[in-house]
Amino acid sequence: MGSFVPSHRMTNLDLEKIVDTSDEWIRTRTGIRERRICQKDETNSDMAVAAGRRALEMAGIKPSEIDLLLVATVTPDYRLPSASCIVQQKLGLENAATMDILAACAGFIYGLSTAEVYIKCGKFKRILVVGVEKLSSITDYTDRNTCVLFGDGAGAAVVIPTEEDRGLLSTFMKSDGRLGELLWIPDGGSKAPIQDINMNNSHQVFIKMNGSEVFKHAVRQMEDASRRVLDEAGLTTADVDWLIPHQANYRIISSTAKRLGLSMNKVYVNIEKYGNTSSASVPIALDEAIHNGKVKEGNIILMAAFGGGLTWAAAAYKW
Ligand code: ACO
Repeated sequence: MGSFVPSHRMTNLDLEKIVDTSDEWIRTRTGIRERRICQKDETNSDMAVAAGRRALEMAGIKPSEIDLLLVATVTPDYRLPSASCIVQQKLGLENAATMDILAACAGFIYGLSTAEVYIKCGKFKRILVVGVEKLSSITDYTDRNTCVLFGDGAGAAVVIPTEEDRGLLSTFMKSDGRLGELLWIPDGGSKAPIQDINMNNSHQVFIKMNGSEVFKHAVRQMEDASRRVLDEAGLTTADVDWLIPHQANYRIISSTAKRLGLSMNKVYVNIEKYGNTSSASVPIALDEAIHNGKVKEGNIILMAAFGGGLTWAAAAYKW
């Protein structure tokens, strides 16, 4: 595992100066105190490369050994070429095929699930999965409903085959495209292309969200996905040492834990430092929990995430 966050901190007090909000509202409604934001010269691919390099170092794998790169992001440097092609070039993954995954906050676990299947069928043997977002680039800093939530960052994992009694035990992913407009960017795609955008209404190129509706679906589906992966792995919630949830909102995390019957001392939470970093949030949290010694060898890890699409996913893992 590896992760990276930009050094610039945007605190709740900074946001108080630009929208009608308060540190107290943000902390009590979301659990967020600050988030990391890219400076002008920091890119999505820079963060992905930093996280990917750390994951490769920890795994003891050379860039040339990676045969598949999966990059989950909704904020690529360019529309074309893909985010994964840029990261491939910068990391020197000269022998890899590359693919982008567009599944918002569930993207990293979608990536793990895709890697699991490719490894099991033998098609690829050394896969780098990256979750990376520069959400500050699609956030409307005049909209208090969304701008207090999002941050930037990246996390990465190297996935390889093993005969040992450890690793990915099961994964699950699901979508419901009927609910796409609960969390979307209306303009700037090919349906409302840039040349047609009315600049007086240009806020439509940023994330729009129906927060309370998304909240309800998030809690319900993260619980369902978690139970499915545990069932498939022959485990119950009693076997879980750590739940590593998508860090969208402390209240979503605690409600999900409660529905699963997990005490909060088994739930890894770092939302106060980074806010919602979408596809980067689960790998940043897992990497942090591994490196600060919370996750120990043999621990059963349950990961669950939920995001725009709508998409959701979970994975059970023995570290
Ligand atoms: N500061 C002060 N007041 C605010 C702010 C703010 N930053 N934002 C909203 N409010 C106000 C609203 O205007 C509303 O006021 P009103 O009643 O006068 O209209 C009031 O607070 C309550 O708003 P709600 O939307 O009901 O608040 P809620 O308790 O639902 O919390 C939140 C809002 C934090 C957005 C929550 O709904 C949430 O976290 N939703 C899920 C977000 C999420 O998980 N997204 C998924 C992933 S993101 C991705 O995929 C990229």
